[in-house]
Amino acid sequence: MRHPYSLAATVFAVAATFGSLSQAQAQTTIKIAYALAPNSHYGVAAKSFDENLQKLAPGRFKVEQFPSSALGGERETIESLQLGNLEMVVTSSGPVINFVPEAGIMDIPFLFRDSAHARAALDGAPGQEILSKFPAKGLVALAWGEQGFRHLTNSKHAVNTPTDMKGLKVRTMENPVHMTAFRTLGASPTPMAWPEVIQGLQQGTIDGQENPMSVIVSAKLSEVQKHLTLSRHVYSPALLVMSKRTFDKLNDSDKKAVQDAATQAAKDMRAWVDDVEAKAVADVKAAGMQVVEKVDTASFQAALAPAFDDYAKRFGKDKIEAIRNFK
Ligand code: PAF
Repeated sequence: MRHPYSLAATVFAVAATFGSLSQAQAQTTIKIAYALAPNSHYGVAAKSFDENLQKLAPGRFKVEQFPSSALGGERETIESLQLGNLEMVVTSSGPVINFVPEAGIMDIPFLFRDSAHARAALDGAPGQEILSKFPAKGLVALAWGEQGFRHLTNSKHAVNTPTDMKGLKVRTMENPVHMTAFRTLGASPTPMAWPEVIQGLQQGTIDGQENPMSVIVSAKLSEVQKHLTLSRHVYSPALLVMSKRTFDKLNDSDKKAVQDAATQAAKDMRAWVDDVEAKAVADVKAAGMQVVEKVDTASFQAALAPAFDDYAKRFGKDKIEAIRNFK
């Protein structure tokens, strides 16, 4: 005689099989938001991520791009990842300290000698340890990308020395490490989300801003700023970050495809930054910017001494030195 539970068990098994089949076949849509135009290092990363994901996991994902802050400022988009309203962002490290405080150590001025040093530290133990802090905040940081070294632009006068910065209203990212630096240099730091910056510069509510050549060129800052100082005051990492809610729903092979596509996207972003850096200064000069090409870096570092004391208290001197001396 048929066991009374066997029919129910069969129905359950069939339903479970269909359930897992439909789960296995379901396509995941990844909306990816970023602050800059498609023809920027962020656009390059988003395109590379999409193309590589299609190769690594054909038909498993649909990637939709939302460039030019279409879904809000960087801080808002990271909040959307946490809430599960957005799947992915390419972002600067600017607002990240407000979510993962340990990440702010990478925003310390003059921490890295050059891009090779920064890339090695971010891809090595110090950077990977920071990435491991993201899941506790509802975020999965897939890879460190890059913007380049940040430089100062303004509409008032040429900045050659720290003294020239006195009183300049400089827009900074919403990042306390950067704000401390600009305050210490005697400027008046004005934290502001990126979508408000161009209008702020046009209307004169801020005198200047600071960003790498990748942004200065792709956001056409030469149209709203006359002076550029190649200050290289801080390296600007970028990050490819996914909502943990999205990542956790993926099966293991899809997770690997997402991770590998993001790793490649970060490499492509860095290569684009290298290309831009090679010709950007000539381009902005041709567009009419007056460029201070050499500054006395030691004088900026000396003026920042009180800020360095503050960072040592905040992040630990040993940790900072380990990154500074990373090989
Ligand atoms: O200055 C910023 O806020 C960032 O560097 C930007 C331009 C949004 C790119 O991430």
